[in-house]
Amino acid sequence: WQLFGWKSRTLPPVVFHWIPFLGSAISYGTDPIRFLLRCREKYGDVFTFILFGRRMTVALGPKGNNFVTGGKVTQVSAEEAYAHLTTPVFGEGVVFDVPNEILMEQKKFVKCGLTIDHLRSYVGMIVDEVTNFLDTDPAFKHYQIGDMNSWGSFHVMKRLAEITILTAARTLQGKEVRGNMDKTFAQVYNDLDGGFTPMNLFFPNIPSAANRKRDRAQKTMSDFYVNIIRKRAEGKEHERDMISALMEQQYKSGKGLGEREVAHLMITLLMAGQHTSSSTAAWAFLRIAANPDVLDALYREQVENFGTGREGEFEPLTYESLRNLPVLDAVIRETLRMHPPIHSIIRKVTSDLPVPLTLAAPSGEEGLTYVVPKGHFVMSSPAATQMDPRTWKDSSVFDPNRWLDSKGVAAQALKTYADEHGEKVDYGFGAVSKGTESPYQPFGAGRHRCIGEQFAYLQIGTILATFVRKLDLRLETNFPENNYHTMITLPKDPCNISYRRRN
Ligand code: HEM
Repeated sequence: WQLFGWKSRTLPPVVFHWIPFLGSAISYGTDPIRFLLRCREKYGDVFTFILFGRRMTVALGPKGNNFVTGGKVTQVSAEEAYAHLTTPVFGEGVVFDVPNEILMEQKKFVKCGLTIDHLRSYVGMIVDEVTNFLDTDPAFKHYQIGDMNSWGSFHVMKRLAEITILTAARTLQGKEVRGNMDKTFAQVYNDLDGGFTPMNLFFPNIPSAANRKRDRAQKTMSDFYVNIIRKRAEGKEHERDMISALMEQQYKSGKGLGEREVAHLMITLLMAGQHTSSSTAAWAFLRIAANPDVLDALYREQVENFGTGREGEFEPLTYESLRNLPVLDAVIRETLRMHPPIHSIIRKVTSDLPVPLTLAAPSGEEGLTYVVPKGHFVMSSPAATQMDPRTWKDSSVFDPNRWLDSKGVAAQALKTYADEHGEKVDYGFGAVSKGTESPYQPFGAGRHRCIGEQFAYLQIGTILATFVRKLDLRLETNFPENNYHTMITLPKDPCNISYRRRN
């Protein structure tokens, strides 16, 4: 077909490459955003590239997002794209190890553990954990000695990873997990995490020391949660948290969630939330440390809303007050625009998938239409679409103001887009467009949309506000580059931030 020049009417154009199996793996793996945006210049919004023998058809822009995240369950499958990566880590019987309709029920169960009442109770706990960390961790000794003129420095990714796991353990995971956050838990967590890599995504089931450790850690972690569940089931006292919410749930069939399913859903939440939230928080810290004006606006917002009382203390943060801090909201939103932790969203095509004409030929080239065959993959890229200069003015500039209108409230860029396209957008803290055809999808969209968004906003917002109240921050080095060699986009070293105690 390609030889006879019929390719444009059947398969999408294929990105030029020299080595058949490897394809464009090196360019994509080194800097996916640059690679995808360059390919777009040459081939348009829809093109195919080879990635370790897989044929990946990329669909960019809001319509591309809709093509992938709004795909029908009979045509595209997330489980066929991801199960070999996630099941050995999360465990059996959950998420991509079950048919999609069961996952949809499991997501509803998790939402029962993330009600507003739960979220409300978490704010104080997160503040406590962060305050305690600042008061005791050796990285913050210049804060602890109480001298305003003394500057220290901390490794933003390492410290934020610790703070994220401590705060998630104290809130979502429950008191037993928080109580066991010693070295053993940390080791088991690290071993499990060692199985969550791009190698595992592209080369499943290769026998390796890391995979053997992963399998042992999965069993240990699963048994650890099952023990908690059994003790809870016997005991008279009942905590009101995620474990207890899951233990009460029943499928439509009337069957309750088994103890292994509860355990594996808890592991899923731990793993799905840890790197995504800690990297977002780290990027937000880097951005505000590099932009003293933005840091200043965040601090002023705290002073204006929470005052500084007689002792120089701020009023406590609450769930309600967090929802009314537009600068904080805009900083997180803009961080997620430029640094979405998941840069590519992948599905396997399970029956031949026609590409809509409006996506394949936006300028109306007659008859240009593609079909992505069964067995190929489709990919959308929140990161590339969110950096697309066609949609975003000065797309490579960190500008939280783009989310604020003249009164400092609405998410303007999204609002304009949504108005034009008749989408309904809720502007509350942590709420973004739910549509699958949006230019902004850091949390995905459609049936696989993230369930942790509200929790992540609450966690990251509370951590940021607590730091900003207490510390002045500066970035002394160049802004770190992206490390795309991990599942989640992280800042490369050096990524230290200088700090000093505020008056
Ligand atoms: C799915 C992003 C935090 C749990 C997703 C997806 C994205 C995402 C893009 C969709 C992936 C796809 O369609 O293939 C994020 C970001 C976070 C975050 C940017 C933080 C800033 C969390 C947290 C939790 C969580 C805190 C748990 C408490 C999940 C789960 C799924 C998911 C279980 C799978 C849903 C499904 O496949 O149906 N997340 N996430 N995430 N997220 Fe998050």
